[in-house]
Amino acid sequence: MNILIVGTGYVGTTTGLIFCEMGHQVTGLDLDNRKIQALQAGSLHFYEPGLEELLTKHVQSSQITFTKNTESAVKENDVIFICVGTPMGEDGSADLTYVKNVAEAIGRYMNQYKVIVTKSTVPVGTAELVAEWIEANQTNPIPFDVVSNPEFLREGSAVRDALHPDRIIIGTTSAKAGTIMKELYQNFSCPIIETHPKASEMIKYAANSFLAMKISFINEIARLCDVLGINVMDISKGIGLDHRIGTQFLHAGLGYGGSCFPKDVNALLKTALDNHRPLSVLEKVVEVNNEQPLYFIEKMKQTMGEPLVNKTIAVLGLAFKANTDDTRESPSLVLIEHLASEQVEVKAHDPVVHFKSGGTMKFQQCETVEETVKGADAVVIATNWPEYLRLDWAVLKSFMKRPIIFDGRNMLDKAELESLGFQCFGVASF
Ligand code: UDX
Repeated sequence: MNILIVGTGYVGTTTGLIFCEMGHQVTGLDLDNRKIQALQAGSLHFYEPGLEELLTKHVQSSQITFTKNTESAVKENDVIFICVGTPMGEDGSADLTYVKNVAEAIGRYMNQYKVIVTKSTVPVGTAELVAEWIEANQTNPIPFDVVSNPEFLREGSAVRDALHPDRIIIGTTSAKAGTIMKELYQNFSCPIIETHPKASEMIKYAANSFLAMKISFINEIARLCDVLGINVMDISKGIGLDHRIGTQFLHAGLGYGGSCFPKDVNALLKTALDNHRPLSVLEKVVEVNNEQPLYFIEKMKQTMGEPLVNKTIAVLGLAFKANTDDTRESPSLVLIEHLASEQVEVKAHDPVVHFKSGGTMKFQQCETVEETVKGADAVVIATNWPEYLRLDWAVLKSFMKRPIIFDGRNMLDKAELESLGFQCFGVASF
């Protein structure tokens, strides 16, 4: 099938390349010329393990091509995936400006029956809106169907997640569009759920909100465990092995971040408020998440037994999690912001994130971990990069002013560090 992917971010690029793997012919459309040129040259404009290899393979075989030309891209493809961003608006709702622009362009240029698929995370009722926006821009009435088909891939493991999804959700009221979608996904072995577009849209928000809830739940349990002297990692394991609960997303830390959870939880809360059905559990999920970096800083103060003012803290990790260069809503940056507001001198490191220095930057970014920890009163592990598991702490200790580690990701071997003379504190890890 000939597929058009509109938007070449994490979701769009990965989706397009996975469809190439499944034997389809794909066109990637983006209005950003630099992105198009880079992708057409086989180069990714963001960091995602394994994706550039797929890009090179399918660009070389011309199974995927990239363009800026909306008109020909719409005319030449019969299945169009909308994969543009839906950033958080000022009131917490999802901003649909980019989705609307794409829908209007599709309406303007469509020449025959098309299936238009929303893959971007969009609020309940958006499929209907997309249909209205398309219709309003058609010069002649040409039939089309809008399908909701949310994406569940994670940054950092996008290729694996998209190739091996747990399920595929197809939200449509059209039998014709449903058949086309199932044909598109025929090489996938997971269950396919066919449902109403509104249910499909809700499934995505409910899934992300549920996972965010698991994280806030375990972080709050961790705070209680901390007072009681219980290792929260034992609790995660002990409850997670109950199949009804599951082991994933029960890792206590600095709270969730990224481009999806904070935005999607807020958008669902806004939908709930607009419909006079507030979601009180979810409101608390956000509250607990916002508190978590502050709780961690309090812990640092108590441990150091003095105010943090004028101390030098080395923060390892800037990305919102490992294996991505994405810093959107990164708990690390939230932590740094709070530390800087308390006159702490922050030095930071990340294996792939490199900010341009100057401007409003609240920290000094260093190229190496050695340079970062030099003269530090304490180190904070803020991102769960596997690189940080392989550090030579005996050597690093000699650079530090005081051998103290705050492990915000509960990832280091505490006993080993203590044997090297470090004081090591995690999130309720004893
Ligand atoms: C998420 C969803 O998992 C994915 O299905 C959706 O398509 C997009 O949003 P992503 O934001 O890429 O994916 O990352 P994810 O691995 O889900 O982690 C989100 C945040 O939660 C990160 O900050 C991560 O560090 C944090 N997290 C995750 C925890 O603090 N503890 C955990 O146990 C798991």
